[in-house]
Amino acid sequence: MRVYSARIGASQPASIVDRRLDDNRTSSGRPERFSLQCLGWRAVNLRMRDNGIVNYNAVEIIEHKRDGFTLSDGEIAWLIDAFTRGTIPDEQMSAMAMAVYFQGLSDAELSVWTQAMITSGVRMSFPELTKPLVDKHSTGGVGDKITLPLAPLVAACGAAVPQLSGRGLGHTGGTLDKLESISGWRAYLSDAEIHAQLASVGAVVCAAGDGLAPADKKLYALRDVTGTVPSIELMSSSIMSKKIAEGASGLVLDVKVGDGAFMKTVEQASVLAQRMVALGTAAGVKTVALLTNMNTPLGLKVGNALEVEESIEVLAGGGPADLVELTLALATTMVELAGLDVDPAAVLASGKAMDTWRAMIAAQGGDLSVPLPTARYTHTITAESDGILTRIDALGVGICSWRLGAGRTRKEDSISLGAGVVIHAKPGDRVRAGDPLLTLHTDDESLFPAGLSALDGTYEIGEVAPPPQPMVFARID
Ligand code: URA
Repeated sequence: MRVYSARIGASQPASIVDRRLDDNRTSSGRPERFSLQCLGWRAVNLRMRDNGIVNYNAVEIIEHKRDGFTLSDGEIAWLIDAFTRGTIPDEQMSAMAMAVYFQGLSDAELSVWTQAMITSGVRMSFPELTKPLVDKHSTGGVGDKITLPLAPLVAACGAAVPQLSGRGLGHTGGTLDKLESISGWRAYLSDAEIHAQLASVGAVVCAAGDGLAPADKKLYALRDVTGTVPSIELMSSSIMSKKIAEGASGLVLDVKVGDGAFMKTVEQASVLAQRMVALGTAAGVKTVALLTNMNTPLGLKVGNALEVEESIEVLAGGGPADLVELTLALATTMVELAGLDVDPAAVLASGKAMDTWRAMIAAQGGDLSVPLPTARYTHTITAESDGILTRIDALGVGICSWRLGAGRTRKEDSISLGAGVVIHAKPGDRVRAGDPLLTLHTDDESLFPAGLSALDGTYEIGEVAPPPQPMVFARID
């Protein structure tokens, strides 16, 4: 047994915890760094062994990452485990998140970090299913209601689609909030119900249980209030830990790019996508990422019930062209990963996806015969001049909808199911002075000024049509 000795201060922070580790190497095979600097005990990388007991210190791990060093496998595993168990307080983990935000994680560190997040909870498996299990994740965008038509469509193509989803926070909406616009629909299902519904209907959209990557749930809540959400490594490990734990054999990542997304450029989104695809592939999940356009809101409706309404239009064979295009692009990739020889466009046109949607909603108690909630007040913005709409920014519309009551600021806030924004013209459309551009919906008239101010400068009418933008920028395998 190798024993490292280090100068230890008389009063060690309470967060020092003893953990037993199997090895003293990083996953890349390098020995752990042991740096003795003349800065007192805090600068010493504690990696002491005494009868197999290793002491780690959260402050030192934070300092190592802050100063740009590579963390050892043991440090990462201990950190995530101790944070999940509540041994490391929120302020230390927030500092750690900021250190990772600035310094990043190497591929080897990211792999160990993601694995530690997975093992913080349970891993689901569906051995009883005969259909291939495929999943989709979106990094979040404005008007992104894709899961609603996509899950029943891919199920109608012959795959099993478990969509364990979340709620909206900030300007991007949450799938569960949207579906709760449907009278009686239940987001919380037992494991047995999830298994039964996947076998019978083929698609289930429900809340992720507390047992799935609990480290991510805790860490995401901290990142959300510390400005550390848009870190490539923290996003990759957050998303992939949940998706790998869900047990699918195929995964399509919809990585949003643009003004309304966390990733503002194709270059940033490509890096995120490559790192997530590598994590998925290494875990044995066939993973493909599509980089998709989030400069303009997706579809024409933003807000919970409004987005359900628009999803039903798509399932009925209509709906806005961009929404249909992206739904089919994602469905085609999922069907390919599932190894099925089916054309999703034909399945959509046949009405089978609508049948699966009805069955999926009914299985979770939803009653589609009850009208969707609508907001009490509306306010329409009209075009001030004739011309061509040259842009309408996703972020502004998302913030407007959020301020009108469709989203929440804190996770305990309630939301208005009918609130949101209806878009009447998209970039490239010709408009005349007085034509409606956007209609704001809210249950509380006093919210209109805040909603309107979010739209300042978010749309423009000009003389020349903007060049058409692709819906899918790139595919990363
Ligand atoms: N969605 C997630 O699940 N995690 C992130 O970090 C960002 C988006």
